[in-house]
Amino acid sequence: MTGKNIQLDKNGNLKHFLSIEGLSQPLLHTILNYAESFATVDKRPVKKVPLLRGKTIANLFFEPSTRTRTTFELAAKRLSADILNLNISTSATSKGEILSDTLRTLEAMHCDMFVVRHANSGAAHYIASQVAPHISVINAGDGRHEHPTQAMLDMFTIKQHKKDFTKLSVAIVGDILHSRVARSEIHALNVLGTNEVRIIGPHTLIPKEIEKLGVHIYHDMNSGLKDVDVVVMLRLQRERMRGALLPSEDEYFKRYGLTNQKLKHAKKDAIVMHPGPINRGVEIDSDVADGKHSVILQQVSHGIAIRMAIMAMVMGQINRDENKEKKK
Ligand code: CP
Repeated sequence: MTGKNIQLDKNGNLKHFLSIEGLSQPLLHTILNYAESFATVDKRPVKKVPLLRGKTIANLFFEPSTRTRTTFELAAKRLSADILNLNISTSATSKGEILSDTLRTLEAMHCDMFVVRHANSGAAHYIASQVAPHISVINAGDGRHEHPTQAMLDMFTIKQHKKDFTKLSVAIVGDILHSRVARSEIHALNVLGTNEVRIIGPHTLIPKEIEKLGVHIYHDMNSGLKDVDVVVMLRLQRERMRGALLPSEDEYFKRYGLTNQKLKHAKKDAIVMHPGPINRGVEIDSDVADGKHSVILQQVSHGIAIRMAIMAMVMGQINRDENKEKKK
């Protein structure tokens, strides 16, 4: 990110959460630490804290979602906020209302935060630059650009199992070209000091400039997975592909689908992750997706705690208090 980072306020606190690129290691650790304490809220008889009582949050999903939309909704409810879920297919957008008019309409309802998923890269940044100053924007996935809350819940999951990023080799496998998750994860792993980040996939699904991010590229699963601690599998994003980038799904599965046989090349205690939705028999075999190395459903649960932490931080409910503590 060049120039002013609009994600941060003048005190360096999170105002918006738009991309991992441009954020510091201490800030990512702060998010992970807060998520750790929010993870216990789910275990209480009353699964709520009052941090965002009186705040109104709008979920604006211009693309389909299961995990991200519902865990943002649950996270908002756990924080005692009021949440609106705007169904774009039945909203005035389907009658031709332009984005800026939708935003003005929601501003008039005194919303405090917009959670935005959009097919266009940069949409969340654009919205953050347009909204009233009191409103915070969280990127829930923009085109091929970034999916920063997914990256943070994945970092949280890795930390639960592996502790020290500086000792880890992480392989990200599949359709890197179209993946906003891959981009956010590579930034997050780099910021957290991961020893080695590998990407594995066919030439057609690996972006040309990716080496500039310091990753090692492999086109063969057996060598790419050798002795890794973490395997992140990605879905083929057919909806973003233009032209024939793959011979067939069967051929893809033979070469890049994760099976227990291929997983034997990773470390014995390797964990297998996938942001979802998973396509069984395309990028991952059911035996692996449901097997003992898989932490895929843990990732979903961790999404609630991470999103609680980020929502509370952009609303200034926790990082300002932390700064006050530091000044005492
Ligand atoms: N991981 C993820 O973004 O999943 P959804 O599309 O279901 O939100």
